[in-house]
Amino acid sequence: MYSDADILSLLMSRRPGYSLPQPFYTDSDVFQADLAHIWQKDWVFAVCSAELPKTGNYVTMQIGAYSVIVVRGADGVIRAFHNSCRHRGSRICSAARGSAPKLVCPYHQWTYELDGKLLWAREMGADFNPGDHGLKTVHCIDVSGMIFICLAEIAPDASGLQRQAERYLGPHDLGNLKVAHQSTIIEKGNWKLVLENNRECYHCSGSHPSLCRTFPDDPNLVGADDASTSNVGKQHVERCENAGLPAKYVISPNEQWRFVRIPFLGEAVSYTMDGKAAVSKRIGTVPFDNAGTCLFFNYPNTWNHFLSDQVLTFRVLPIGPMESEVTTTWLVHKDAQEGVDYDLERLTEVWTHTNDEDRRIVEENQIGICSPAYEPGPYSPVQESGVIQFVDWYAAHLETSLLGRFRVAAE
Ligand code: FES
Ligand SMILES: [Fe+2]
Repeated sequence: MYSDADILSLLMSRRPGYSLPQPFYTDSDVFQADLAHIWQKDWVFAVCSAELPKTGNYVTMQIGAYSVIVVRGADGVIRAFHNSCRHRGSRICSAARGSAPKLVCPYHQWTYELDGKLLWAREMGADFNPGDHGLKTVHCIDVSGMIFICLAEIAPDASGLQRQAERYLGPHDLGNLKVAHQSTIIEKGNWKLVLENNRECYHCSGSHPSLCRTFPDDPNLVGADDASTSNVGKQHVERCENAGLPAKYVISPNEQWRFVRIPFLGEAVSYTMDGKAAVSKRIGTVPFDNAGTCLFFNYPNTWNHFLSDQVLTFRVLPIGPMESEVTTTWLVHKDAQEGVDYDLERLTEVWTHTNDEDRRIVEENQIGICSPAYEPGPYSPVQESGVIQFVDWYAAHLETSLLGRFRVAAE
């Protein structure tokens, strides 16, 4: 049993530059603290607006005990609601996704408009006011075509993120893409192991033969400043910026999100086995094919690749202390036709392989950490600076929130 005070002292005693103590990857109390202080307080990537193209299209998602519906209304606006009926609490939508003209509770058929208003409830008496029983809303914002939700009462300011997303992601015109493919896999590993693995390519040459055909594993390709950027990286950034395509490394003050546009290896333009484009229709206003990939992460749950011919989004959701869900979505130009403008197998094979390789890596990492013999080990300052950055963000974020709670309790 770990109390908040125990977790705080574990955090404060951790060795910077080293992997976290075992309970952070295994313990259910720490997992609950992660949910309460991070997942239920921060903006969490839910879905691309392109995944809900029509009125009534919805997805549901689970964050700890919270079930949330994200749905497109008749006015075209995407909103999020708690998936709990205002009658006696039944879950309203049980499917992971679907389409419905109204949201109808399966228990006694209370019927809600897509904007959450209660439309119909049978025989509730003369005093009953439907206006008092609309669905409870969840904060929901559109970040250049990526829909984020926040379960907190007061959501953190996302204006800086939205501003930079407009610059970096806007040229890819996510709202006018369509979903070509989506995969959801379960990884038997703590969510932080999934994120840590994403934040380094120390493992790439040994694990990702398909990805390594096009993706450079040089950690200093494009860094935060000139001193930590290679010549190839500098040239790429300059070429993109001169063409009006933002490319420079930019990170938020609290280091929760980052955008950077890096080049592919050699002549490659996309994540394919031969490096050639996977889709013949270039997307948005990206000025040339070899624009590399714009990497965007937002902690705790998403990293993404924005290319000239496709966009790949990744969403992580925590299921348990040692289980996570990873959803990958491949988006292409909305007018691109399968079999004509792209071949689905060719479009998806590199990241289907890579995801499965990463799943195995994360699961082996988790099993090894569960051993009583595990002790935190050192990250490579050269190859794993991204992991150090993530873990430092996590520790600082959790610590601040836990300390805030103690302060409130003391007042
Ligand atoms: S619980 Fe939803 S209608 Fe009764
Ligand atoms: Fe990987």
